[in-house]
Amino acid sequence: MLSSTKIAVLMGGPGNEREVSLASGHAVLGALQELGLDAVEVNVTDTEPQLPRGAGLAFNLIHGTFGEDGQLQAYLEGLGMPYTGAGVLSSRKAFDKNLAKAVFEQAGVPTPRAEVLNLSASLNPSIIPPLVVKPPREGSSVGVHIVKQADELDAALADAANYGNDVLIEEFVKGMELTVAVIDEKAYPIVHIIPPDGVYDMRSKYPWLSGGQGSQYVCPADLDESTTRDVQEVALAAHKALEIEIYSRVDVLLDSKKRPYVLEANTIPGMTATSLLPKSAAAAGIPFPELCRRIAEASLKLGSR
Ligand SMILES: Nc1ncnc2c1ncn2[C@@H]1O[C@H](COP(=O)(O)OP(=O)(O)O)[C@@H](O)[C@H]1O
Ligand SMILES: [Mg+2]
Repeated sequence: MLSSTKIAVLMGGPGNEREVSLASGHAVLGALQELGLDAVEVNVTDTEPQLPRGAGLAFNLIHGTFGEDGQLQAYLEGLGMPYTGAGVLSSRKAFDKNLAKAVFEQAGVPTPRAEVLNLSASLNPSIIPPLVVKPPREGSSVGVHIVKQADELDAALADAANYGNDVLIEEFVKGMELTVAVIDEKAYPIVHIIPPDGVYDMRSKYPWLSGGQGSQYVCPADLDESTTRDVQEVALAAHKALEIEIYSRVDVLLDSKKRPYVLEANTIPGMTATSLLPKSAAAAGIPFPELCRRIAEASLKLGSR
């Protein structure tokens, strides 16, 4: 039972998204404590975090490398410790954009046309600009470049090389930037993201971190009923195709012909009270502490994995 369980709230982590994770972690810690639950902070700095004695559930808020890619999940399973959210395999598939792309294509989930480029082979992509260059195993728009014309390609690939040997090249989709919360196999109200200059990058995602201008958010998105249904349907299909447990937040682009394209599923989405998944849950009448409680409770039910 959740009320008699000590919850270790794991935050920080060794990766690039440490600061964002600390914000999520403190927000969830506060919300769980507000509900009278026994929640304690664990500030993770390496890949073998010590859990407090007597902990019965790890609430994982470590975004990106280590926390979101299956490594922490495998470590917790080694300890026999129940944890929130996606498991080892689903985390790995969702986090690696190359793997996820293959899963989406296989399952018929609409997603921008893409190819994987091996940077050591120094070949040009067959997709022509406008295109998007992405390091396959990063988050928070880290290393993502929108290449509008051919002469910008080399610089984008050179930067992508800082993150690894392979890079995902995607056809650029012009359209609305949407994201959909999926909790317990159900899609929640769609959030429409309106970045200040049309680019949803680090600065417009986390203005408080970067001094950028921030984005506007509209939830539920102003879409007609059938488009809303289509977008929620593809988001749920993406979540299910990746076999994600408990919850995720699926990023979707909607083109001018109202065709949705799934970009990715985030298995450790931002969890401050004003983050996108909490915004969506709030629009459905679920306050932030209750959202945290539901995730913890459903995850605890899975037991040790
Ligand atoms: N194929 C695409 N067409 C247009 N914009 C894209 C495309 N892929 C990514 N973007 C832009 O880059 C952002 C980050 O890409 P995403 O695949 O969601 O990776 P991340 O893990 O960094 O969030 C998106 O929110 C969107 O603004
Ligand atoms: Mg994204």
